Amino acid sequence: MERSLSMELVRVTELAALSSARWVGRGMKNEADHAATEAMRKMFDTIPMEGIVVIGEGEMDEAPMLYIGEKLGTGKGPMVDIAVDPVEGTNLVAKGGWNSIAVLAVADRGNLLHAPDMYMEKIAVGPECVGCIDINASITDNLKAVAKAKNKEISDVLVTILDRERHAWMIQEIREAGARIKLITDGDLAAGINTCFDETGIDIMFGIGGAPEGVITAVALKCLGGEFQGRLKPETEKEVQRCKKMGIDDVNKVLYMDDLVKGDDAIFAATGITDGELLKGVQFKGKKATTSSVVMRAKTGTVRFIEGTHNFQGKLARLK
Ligand code: FBP
Repeated sequence: MERSLSMELVRVTELAALSSARWVGRGMKNEADHAATEAMRKMFDTIPMEGIVVIGEGEMDEAPMLYIGEKLGTGKGPMVDIAVDPVEGTNLVAKGGWNSIAVLAVADRGNLLHAPDMYMEKIAVGPECVGCIDINASITDNLKAVAKAKNKEISDVLVTILDRERHAWMIQEIREAGARIKLITDGDLAAGINTCFDETGIDIMFGIGGAPEGVITAVALKCLGGEFQGRLKPETEKEVQRCKKMGIDDVNKVLYMDDLVKGDDAIFAATGITDGELLKGVQFKGKKATTSSVVMRAKTGTVRFIEGTHNFQGKLARLK
């Protein structure tokens, strides 16, 4: 992939974040999602690449834009797979909550897992804990391994997990093991990435969330040198068949980093819509708006934080 693609891609998440930020706290998650999707779609077509959406807003008959199989880019340039989540945390935008982001991941053609839109069991850690987690082991054993790798007591380990009824037994086990918990209402993608940044305080992310978000998290962790393990959780026979149709024959298989994103190269970009531990949300200031983004590349391990100031007399004037 071209090195310059990273900078082009961050323009896509910036515009998506700027567009959906108009809807923060207005209780209209679909409108926020639509605005971000439309903005992403527009910006993608300015990028020199032959892209195909492998994780998007739905199947062709369900989504008007950024549907699975849609071609993106100018049609000239590297052949890539694209995973998008124009608004990760639609409820967070609707309520003005913490950590909603506009996000995408790109890899060479054929290298991203075509994850069906269903649940995935996940575990994510930062670089210090690579090789010490195991999705098949107990929560307690994983916590002990993380504490040892980070040279701290279990009582100092901070876990983040979605606050869901299905996680009640996990939350109980984490508490019984003596670790601390940060319960989140939404947004396990940002939570997974946060495990790679000391300043967030998060040591490990557990739980069941969206499979598409899982693949995008894995790309980010590949760039950051962290580790992600997942296992699909189809809930119906139809979902099992859907996995098979997408080429996943053993639905119980543990998905390791190389199953989720093959090869040594991939790019991840995200822009904050609302404030989070890592990225600030969009701020409107007079005739300008500011964005906070991160863009990173697996091949080089380069991580760039980009603060943008955008002028409404330019491209933003055309946004609703
Ligand atoms: P959306 O942006 O699609 O609303 O997803 C937000 C999210 O919280 C994800 O971060 C997470 O993976 C998933 O939803 C969890 O699903 P559920 O809300 O069904 O528990």
